Amino acid sequence: MNTITANGIDLSYVDSGAGRPLLLVHGFPVDHSIWASQIPALARQCRVIAPDLRGFGQSGASNGIVTMEMLADDLAAMLEELGITEPVVLCGWSMGGYVAFQFWKRHRARLRGLILCDTRAGADTPETAAARRQTAERVVHEGAAMLVESMLPRLLAPATLGNHPHLAQSLRRVISAGNVRGIAAASRGMAQRADFVSMLPDIDCPTLLIVGSEDVISTPAEMAAMAGAIPGARLVEIAGAGHASPLEQPEEVVATILQFVANLP
Ligand code: MLT
Repeated sequence: MNTITANGIDLSYVDSGAGRPLLLVHGFPVDHSIWASQIPALARQCRVIAPDLRGFGQSGASNGIVTMEMLADDLAAMLEELGITEPVVLCGWSMGGYVAFQFWKRHRARLRGLILCDTRAGADTPETAAARRQTAERVVHEGAAMLVESMLPRLLAPATLGNHPHLAQSLRRVISAGNVRGIAAASRGMAQRADFVSMLPDIDCPTLLIVGSEDVISTPAEMAAMAGAIPGARLVEIAGAGHASPLEQPEEVVATILQFVANLP
């Protein structure tokens, strides 16, 4: 892992391979390791940058609220610090997708293409937002491990839970080791994130959507509606995967990403 200071925070990141820059943005409440099994194959054709977002993994954390805007600005500042001026393909998984929407809105010139993986464009309902704020307080008082039992069955498809217990184990480890300040701040940030549904028709860069066929958090139906609203977007459904499709079916997700990147103008 490397570390760089960007936007006033120390960010840890993997930088591997050469070629078109591919920025892999993890979700909540994990870190860059969600991409670990895919990075070697992706790095054979791309320069892969996989950071730990502010408050996650080995990166520094902030108190209070960390918004999706702030996380997107961290990424742009990191690219600046790394001297990467070539527009990137940004692949955002789940919360990483919420960050991707903000990156598109705020740093469009840095973007060659967008990959939205198991994510949603809509904002939280007031009930969901209230639950997230409550979760933030609970995590601070009880520790990150309290998230494991509620989240694991929603992150992985039943077949993955049954057949690949090591994947559940590694998620359990990563979630439990999470920085409670970082998790709480990002929960509060997600609770107040902007609604991008009405902006989808304005997305003006090549866009690929990926969804696990058994994703119960960002369902295939919801992602199909999103794909229909983004001009020229393509949706790929990954059979046998839940919300964590990159982790559950890495080979298929890697092949899908590489094909998209290779065909970009
Ligand atoms: C994620 O995987 O990043 C989260 O499920 C996103 C969310 O809670 O909305």
